[in-house]
Amino acid sequence: MIINGGEGLLSKRKPIVGISMKMYQNIPEEAEKYVSAIKDSFDKEDIDIFIFPSIGTLYPIAKMLNGSKLKVGAQNIAPVSNGAFTGELSIETVKSIGGQYIEIGHFERRSIFKESDDIIASKVRLTLESGLTPVLCIGEPEKWADSSKIKHYLTQQLSNGLEEIEKERISEVILAYEPVWAIGAQESAQPDYINNNLNIIREIIGINFSPSAAEKIRIIYGGSVSNENVEKIASFDNVDGVFVGRFGHNPANFISIVETVGKLKVTN
Ligand code: PGA
Repeated sequence: MIINGGEGLLSKRKPIVGISMKMYQNIPEEAEKYVSAIKDSFDKEDIDIFIFPSIGTLYPIAKMLNGSKLKVGAQNIAPVSNGAFTGELSIETVKSIGGQYIEIGHFERRSIFKESDDIIASKVRLTLESGLTPVLCIGEPEKWADSSKIKHYLTQQLSNGLEEIEKERISEVILAYEPVWAIGAQESAQPDYINNNLNIIREIIGINFSPSAAEKIRIIYGGSVSNENVEKIASFDNVDGVFVGRFGHNPANFISIVETVGKLKVTN
């Protein structure tokens, strides 16, 4: 989709591909081996790439990636920068070690750790205020045939998660559309289903924020993305990239997923 960059310039959204290690590759040497195998493979400038290492390997990986095209971030942060929050990760730490992105509201955080919409909204605000980029995860819990039901659900999630931010900063947020039923599944959601729901999300952003925000905001798809399905998913203009899980654990597969998105979306 071509958008008006604000000063009469036509600009396209910059594609973005990320991977979360969740709680895999927990031994620093193992994570370092993975990152060494991928980090020098990305030569295109016009694509953002990030990795969210497992929490205990975040520091060594951030050190390794200092100055790299592969950016680093955290899978979660506490809702405030510091204080009596036993066991939590502070955004101050993430920022000071060079982290740039924060994943917020992943389904596993919402379901296993009972993260509420209020907490998620605070984390999105804190991330923007700290100068980092929030990657806000949203997605319906079941495969619903009725798209008005999906729209209703996503409207709620978006208005709750984005409640605390200044309206004009919306396009700094990255949305990760991850239908819950497609996470950890055999197959991703169907590409046209993804495209329809990304249309719905842009429509919601258009109504709640502005039509230009709806065109500017970057939305990536996550949920069983693989080397095999990425091309079909990313060929829709609405899809600005993908958020990879298990099927990127093989370094060659992750590199290939990034290359496929690059071929489809980057012209240089
Ligand atoms: P998956 O994970 O690709 O392993 O389904 C994706 C995610 O949870 O973001």
